[in-house]
Amino acid sequence: MVFEGAIFSSVSFDKADFSPKVLTCIDQSGLIDRIISVDEPDYKSVKQTAENLNILHPIPKGSYLLPGFIDLHVHAPQWPQAGLALDKPLDEWLQKYTFPLEVKYKDLNFAKENYTGLVNELLENGTTTVLYFGSIHTDANLVLADICAEAGQRAFIGKVAMDNPTQTPEYYRDSSSKESLEQTELFINRLLDKQKKTGAELTPVITPRFVPSCTDETLAGLGNLAKKYDLPIQSHCSESIWEDHYAIERFNLRDTQVLDKFHLLTSKSIMAHATQLNDSDLELFKQRNTAIAHCPISNVYFGNSVLPVKHIHEKNINMGMGTDISGGFSPSIYRNIQQSVMSSQMLQDNSHSDSRISATNAFYLATIGGAKALHIKTGQISVGYKADFQIVTDQYFNSMSNEPQDVFERLIYHTTKSEINEVYVSGKQVINRGEHHGRK
Ligand code: GUN
Ligand code: FE
Repeated sequence: MVFEGAIFSSVSFDKADFSPKVLTCIDQSGLIDRIISVDEPDYKSVKQTAENLNILHPIPKGSYLLPGFIDLHVHAPQWPQAGLALDKPLDEWLQKYTFPLEVKYKDLNFAKENYTGLVNELLENGTTTVLYFGSIHTDANLVLADICAEAGQRAFIGKVAMDNPTQTPEYYRDSSSKESLEQTELFINRLLDKQKKTGAELTPVITPRFVPSCTDETLAGLGNLAKKYDLPIQSHCSESIWEDHYAIERFNLRDTQVLDKFHLLTSKSIMAHATQLNDSDLELFKQRNTAIAHCPISNVYFGNSVLPVKHIHEKNINMGMGTDISGGFSPSIYRNIQQSVMSSQMLQDNSHSDSRISATNAFYLATIGGAKALHIKTGQISVGYKADFQIVTDQYFNSMSNEPQDVFERLIYHTTKSEINEVYVSGKQVINRGEHHGRK
């Protein structure tokens, strides 16, 4: 397949590149193998060949090829409650709303119905790679994996481990540490098998829910499993003042130090929120090369402060973007990019100087930042990278200035599902609204 048209792609925290007219060529394995600009000598011949082979895909004027987004933090089972009870504190929200919903995924029909809706919703919003928390149920997590494979979404999935009887309800917890670790290992092996048999882009993830919900044995065992299978790790770290105090009370250590003690802060770890990290915590993140999933909408509700993105970037710590469904109500990474810019401005007014970030900075987190955190070659439209794309339309192309920066900001602030016409993962089309809506 060869796309012809304009592209926006992040190249660094401070810069997104615009190319007005290029051929983006995809090879059989779903990688970008050439990008040819209009002034190169073989532009015409490559275009002609693609046309003859019927593999030329022209992108209309006013539409743009962008990298697919990477969502570094989604609680898959929480989708049906997006927006509910967000005025409650984290602990109450978990106990009264979230655990009673997550336990329902033991029913595989319930899981299938709700996971199908979620995966489609994320794809329609331009999200091509997702790092998912599942529920505690091995079989329901495998249902999620099947749905992602079927829909063509690249998925990193964790069986949630939670077995601490003082912090989790009897009706929704792993019955013992042994059970928690055995089920985690079973899920890992099942998912690796599925991946091998089908070639679907699925990766298991070690997933202690957060320090409070796990016993010491489970935290230690999960650290060992991460090492044994060389797997990514996800959890929540210093999300709230409550969580921070809890770690000090139980261990006389900071949340980061507890995770580190159990070998859960690695270069493959992605920790959600991290709003309460102090400079020594950040130093530990840097030493371990651990990434942060920035969840700006959710942080408004549970984070108890704004993540200082610019400060953290200056310390050379990697961050990606996460919706935190359903602590964040929106499945859209666009909506989260907007919120991260808005929140950074509020931080500046109150306590920090020079905290403001731009749409360009946040776009970097949502693409390259996420890809680096997951150690995958995607998130940018460059040779050798996976062909994960969204084709989006600028609604005001005919009425406003078409300077690249203006178009880019309009795309960031105006794009909803309706403007995302097509989505591709590893070169395979997974959404085509033109077809569904008869508009093509
Ligand atoms: N901490 C532990 N579990 C959760 C969860 O489901 N959502 C959020 N936002 N924080 C958590
Ligand atoms: Fe979360």
